[in-house]
Amino acid sequence: MANLRLLPLVLVLLFSSATGTGDKGHVSAVVAEKGLAFAKDALIGEAVRSLTPLRLPGVEKAVRVPFLGAIRVAASNITLFHLDVRNDSTIHPGDSALVVVASGIRANLSMAWTYSYDSWLFPIEISDRGTASILVQGMEVGITMEIKNYNGSLSLSVSQCGCYVKDLVISLDGGASWFYQGLINAFEDHIRAAVEKAIPENIIDGTSKLDSLLQSLPRSVNLDNVSALNMTFVSDPQYGNSSIEFDVDGLFSSAVAKTSNLQKHPQLSLSCGGASKMLLLSLDEDVFNSALEVYFKAGSMHWVVDKVPDQSLLNTASWKFIIPRLYRSYPNDNMLLNISMTSSPVIRITSEKIGATTNADLIIDVVHATETIPVLCISVVVSASGVAEAAGNKVYGSVELDNFSLALKWSNVGNIHMSLIQGVIRVFLNTVCMPYLNSRLGHGVVLPAVHGFTLKDVYVLTSPEKLTLCSDVTFSNASRLASFPIL
Ligand SMILES: *[C@@H]1O[C@H](CO)[C@@H](O)[C@H](O)[C@H]1NC(C)=O
Ligand SMILES: *[C@@H]1O[C@H](CO)[C@@H](O)[C@H](O)[C@H]1NC(C)=O
Ligand SMILES: *[C@@H]1O[C@H](CO)[C@@H](O)[C@H](O)[C@H]1NC(C)=O
Ligand SMILES: *[C@@H]1O[C@H](CO)[C@@H](O)[C@H](O)[C@H]1NC(C)=O
Ligand SMILES: *[C@@H]1O[C@H](CO)[C@@H](O)[C@H](O)[C@H]1NC(C)=O
Ligand SMILES: *[C@@H]1O[C@H](CO)[C@@H](O)[C@H](O)[C@H]1NC(C)=O
Ligand SMILES: *[C@@H]1O[C@H](CO)[C@@H](O)[C@H](O)[C@H]1NC(C)=O
Ligand SMILES: *[C@@H]1O[C@H](CO)[C@@H](O)[C@H](O)[C@H]1NC(C)=O
Ligand SMILES: *[C@@H]1O[C@H](CO)[C@@H](O)[C@H](O)[C@H]1NC(C)=O
Ligand SMILES: *[C@@H]1O[C@H](CO)[C@@H](O)[C@H](O)[C@H]1NC(C)=O
Repeated sequence: MANLRLLPLVLVLLFSSATGTGDKGHVSAVVAEKGLAFAKDALIGEAVRSLTPLRLPGVEKAVRVPFLGAIRVAASNITLFHLDVRNDSTIHPGDSALVVVASGIRANLSMAWTYSYDSWLFPIEISDRGTASILVQGMEVGITMEIKNYNGSLSLSVSQCGCYVKDLVISLDGGASWFYQGLINAFEDHIRAAVEKAIPENIIDGTSKLDSLLQSLPRSVNLDNVSALNMTFVSDPQYGNSSIEFDVDGLFSSAVAKTSNLQKHPQLSLSCGGASKMLLLSLDEDVFNSALEVYFKAGSMHWVVDKVPDQSLLNTASWKFIIPRLYRSYPNDNMLLNISMTSSPVIRITSEKIGATTNADLIIDVVHATETIPVLCISVVVSASGVAEAAGNKVYGSVELDNFSLALKWSNVGNIHMSLIQGVIRVFLNTVCMPYLNSRLGHGVVLPAVHGFTLKDVYVLTSPEKLTLCSDVTFSNASRLASFPIL
């Protein structure tokens, strides 16, 4: 029997982007009306490919014919080989389920038939055989799928699935006689019933495979050897009038334990600034903060600077008038800046911008002969803000310095007034730190293509405490989907 492959498609689409709001979710994906329509069309296309050819059970019966008595007729190799779903299909989020209805479907089937007859009238058995084609018109298929949260994963079940065949015409191939036509019509009811039974069975079969797949999806997705994203679904999907929202925990493995004050369904009413997009992916600022915290704890927030655009800045001679004792102790020695974050940077998102505050210790080292000697430590608090933009399937960022404050932590070269070195630090932040960050952010992050689905025409929106990606989805590689494990 053919596997129903359409359901995985839609759910993979939804799942691949699922991220959440609800009560505890920090990432949410809203599949909007246009996205549901896209998913439905992809789903139906894939169903048609996977349902055909579909073999239906054969049948044998005795037909009573006046004067002749009983004639045995049999149909075998009944095969549904073509389904034509026109654009007459709909998808609706119900109260707690998705309802997909396709009507006006045409189907072509073929079959082999035989008849045999023997009686006292003829000394030998009379038999014949041939093939016939069957045209089904006005077929309707309706599926009600329930997607629920089961122990942090999505579970999928079909609560109702029906198929109704309106018209069915059997035509004999090869211009056989009207006599056979009368016999063959006896199979109408059997074929109708077989189609109406087999199609829902295959849909349910496909759904249960997809259900196992969803349950076996990993709860955490490793991004690299440091961080993992928590993909636990925190609530049942929420159904809007024409959209569905999925909420996942979405925090990186050592999450900041901050309770979010999100309303229950804030996303369902979220718009993309008037644009109609298929998918709205909303990321809580906590997602970014939890990621930063994981990297901070993993100890990857250190930076030793030994090259700057104006290299003379890293020589004690340049500091002669700012910190005279430094120059006196280590004349004309090169310097290193050893920067370490003292706490995880904090991101705050508002409707206007993305702000970040970072606390760091800046240790100034002097390289004297072969020795690196720490001479001074300044604690620096930097506020920067940035914007995120998308082009194609990449998201880019840029930041600029807002303000900063300095405090002397310790010094081996006497007391220093911070106001004196403010200017040097500003130059350093503006000519070294910001360009460095911007060069990294400027490469952009490629949004992932999952199983042939690619986000396109991405649009980034910031709102209080959230970053939202509005996007359309294209399905670019059907062969990749076909290689999907369960298919
Ligand atoms: C069954 O029908 C299909 C499609 O018409 C045909 O390709 C195949 O040869 C048939 N098989 C048998 C055993 O008659
Ligand atoms: C279906 O297609 C026909 C012609 O291609 C168009 O007139 C009709 O509006 C379409 N219906 C839907 C529901 O898209
Ligand atoms: C299905 O049957 C219809 C009517 O007999 C015919 O026009 C159409 O070409 C058939 N489709 C296929 C794929 O055989
Ligand atoms: C729920 O999920 C956890 C974590 O994956 C697993 O250890 C546990 O066995 C699951 N419980 C049930 C009832 O499936
Ligand atoms: C992670 O991988 C990078 C390079 O692949 C390596 O430099 C780093 O030490 C690794 N970190 C951990 C915590 O294993
Ligand atoms: C959903 O539809 C109902 C009735 O049509 C309407 O009252 C309600 O405001 C709609 N909700 C949203 C979020 O659009
Ligand atoms: C993932 O999120 C769920 C739900 O918020 C939580 O119960 C679970 O402890 C989290 N797992 C990890 C490893 O943080
Ligand atoms: C940078 O400072 C840290 C302590 O803050 C220290 O462990 C590390 O060795 C220093 N690195 C250099 C190159 O000075
Ligand atoms: C920057 O300015 C803002 C508002 O004036 C202030 O809240 C913030 O603390 C300042 N940041 C630093 C690092 O001084
Ligand atoms: C589609 O995916 C298959 C399998 O992953 C790959 O071999 C093929 O090159 C891809 N085609 C395109 C156009 O990306």
